[in-house]
Amino acid sequence: MFKFLPTLVRWSRIPLVLAGTALLAGCEYNFWRMDGHQSTIAVEGPVAREQLQVFYVTVWVTLVIFVLVGGVLAYATLKFRARNDADEHAEPPSQSHGNPLIELSLIGASVLALVIIAIPTLRGIWYTYDVPEADKANAYEITAHGFQWWFKFEYPAEQAAGENNTKMTLVTGNELVIPAGRPVRVHLRTVDVIHSFWVPKLAGKVDMIPNRANHLWMQADKPGYFWGQCAEYCGDSHAVMRFRVIALGPRDFNDWLEQQLQTGRTVQGNVASADQPRAQFASLRTFKQNEAGISDRFDLQPLEAWKAKQAPEANEDPRLVARGRELFSQKQCNGCHTIRGHGAGGITGPDLTHVGSRTTIAAGLIENTPEQLQRWIHNPSAVKPGNKMAVGYIQQKITLTPEDEVALVAYLLSLK
Ligand code: CUA
Repeated sequence: MFKFLPTLVRWSRIPLVLAGTALLAGCEYNFWRMDGHQSTIAVEGPVAREQLQVFYVTVWVTLVIFVLVGGVLAYATLKFRARNDADEHAEPPSQSHGNPLIELSLIGASVLALVIIAIPTLRGIWYTYDVPEADKANAYEITAHGFQWWFKFEYPAEQAAGENNTKMTLVTGNELVIPAGRPVRVHLRTVDVIHSFWVPKLAGKVDMIPNRANHLWMQADKPGYFWGQCAEYCGDSHAVMRFRVIALGPRDFNDWLEQQLQTGRTVQGNVASADQPRAQFASLRTFKQNEAGISDRFDLQPLEAWKAKQAPEANEDPRLVARGRELFSQKQCNGCHTIRGHGAGGITGPDLTHVGSRTTIAAGLIENTPEQLQRWIHNPSAVKPGNKMAVGYIQQKITLTPEDEVALVAYLLSLK
């Protein structure tokens, strides 16, 4: 009996070794530091740190249980195994009905293990539920809305310039800029299905549930650039429903706010009809070479890349920008998107008033470069399957020539 076991053990090593190699090779980041973009181990804020503490306590308690139970099991298996034919056919030892002392101690040990886990868990639940009382006055309020498939961020305290000197609440999309070192309370809402708000290095996850007012709070220790992700299955493009959190020091944050409160930037230029702009961006083949659409530089120095993105593009062509602005209303983009000060007031899609100053587009999926932006407006479905913009193209019979795309890209990138 069990003669096949040694062979089985020998062979089972192969998939293990293969899986291990693949795992190590697949990690772009230091495997042992576990500090990837969405690491819950390399945390950078008090809320995520509290959550990590609960994780560690649970891991240690369960590890002790595993070693103890596994040790007893291994000991019994080896010590009382059948060594020969006589053992195999022997009568089993006399059965007892348990040992009260052992049973009581096991119950006691289980209760103790649960209490050890429960204390930090309960403390963590209270701590992460809301901003600590002493810090409440200092908290910054934001409302995050989940859409299929992107995030809208609203700043209730900030009144931005709208059309004709009107004021409206400041709204951004997919990139949430927060003050560093200050508690931020995020009110969580959804306009359609259940989504979940999660910034692994800072806080989360809490669901955005229809007709329910959820909230969470988070704080970044210092300025930084953080990766967020919808963490509740919400349809076709759930896996690519991402967002970013950019934490800035007080001065940078105020500068950013000041810029955001302005209407969309206007570039002076006239649309020369005789001299139509030519498509000048990379071909679709270039896009293919970088499916992820994130450049190395951006990946390694995201905060610097974000700061650089706040300034106007280096080779801006005023003529192209003006043509793009014209196309934006001609092609009815304004039916779904808002650009404050440019006569565009749609609310189905993200607010684009300052889209040129964001590092990513398409819900944080691809980098906001001319090539990627053109790839996105050329065929949105190829980037984010099932999204509403692709449906809008079909319903409104919108077609774009390569020249149109280039002009629209120039216009969008000019919106700083
Ligand atoms: Cu939104 Cu998953």
